[in-house]
Amino acid sequence: MKILLTGANGFLGARILARMQAQPSVTLRGMSQDDMSRYIDEVQPDAIIHTAAISDIGTCEANPEASYHANVLLPVYLAKAAPNSKLVMLSTDQVYNGNPSPGPYREGDETIPSNLYARHKLEMEQRVLEISPGAVLLRATWMYDMPLYQGDNRGNFLMNIIKSVLAGQPTAWSREQYRGLTYVREAAESMTGALQLAGGVYNFGSENSMNMYDTAQFLLFAMGAKGHLLEAGVRGNLWMDCEKARVGGVAFLNTQEGLARCLADYGMGAPGK
Ligand SMILES: NC(=O)c1ccc[n+]([C@@H]2O[C@H](COP(=O)([O-])OP(=O)(O)OC[C@H]3O[C@@H](n4cnc5c(N)ncnc54)[C@H](OP(=O)(O)O)[C@@H]3O)[C@@H](O)[C@H]2O)c1
Repeated sequence: MKILLTGANGFLGARILARMQAQPSVTLRGMSQDDMSRYIDEVQPDAIIHTAAISDIGTCEANPEASYHANVLLPVYLAKAAPNSKLVMLSTDQVYNGNPSPGPYREGDETIPSNLYARHKLEMEQRVLEISPGAVLLRATWMYDMPLYQGDNRGNFLMNIIKSVLAGQPTAWSREQYRGLTYVREAAESMTGALQLAGGVYNFGSENSMNMYDTAQFLLFAMGAKGHLLEAGVRGNLWMDCEKARVGGVAFLNTQEGLARCLADYGMGAPGK
């Protein structure tokens, strides 16, 4: 099976490439429908894992047209260019961020995206599924890992906490916000299973029944680190019920188990843990 991977240099894409046989795509930046169709005709993939995107919420707000091109049009171009390929595309838990009910959210719950990135991801899901009903749209949680050597490393939950400990600075987390956090290497490992899922939208990642403050405290304890936590006033849950993917064969550790696995992978757990 020939799998084309977009965004192979990215945070998730680099870990997928390290795990599975896939052909990294050329950059899709600035591509038109014609460019995409020509490229897909050339490669003839059986499946496409599409991770390329503008994934930073602030960058999307500041550059709405670029966000629309990257996060809506490129996936639509891919779906039109590859009617016979199995498509797996990344969406986000942010599509639930304006839902006033406490959650955890299921795929059938109301999506109320309250930022541009999430609005574009939701439009992308809907348009791709109209074109390609067999496409698999994965609503991913915030993901974390240690940095890659000379990689394009951005902040994530794990690194934000580690940096705050090293700098002796506090970090602020909310006792009133619930969201899943996923070890990106586990997400990368789940791509083989994701390719087997029936077409549709799936919540994708680790479930978390702890609030963000308690999750940060859990991580500090698991590292054996003394950090200084403040309470943030953030509300708005993003936690998801991932039963649909689990039934389809794609199961994750919960957030605390995932953090513990990540620390163990890097030999960073507290002594005796
Ligand atoms: N990171 C997270 O915690 C998280 C959480 C939820 C959902 N997601 C979603 O998961 C997917 C992967 O996220 P990620 O963090 O791995 O992404 P990322 O590292 O920020 O970016 C992935 C790749 O996207 C390509 N890209 C950047 N700007 C682009 C543009 N304007 N047009 C076309 N391609 C562009 C780049 O590849 P080239 O340099 O080759 O062009 C980049 O390496 C995305 O769809 C993201 O929205 C991520």
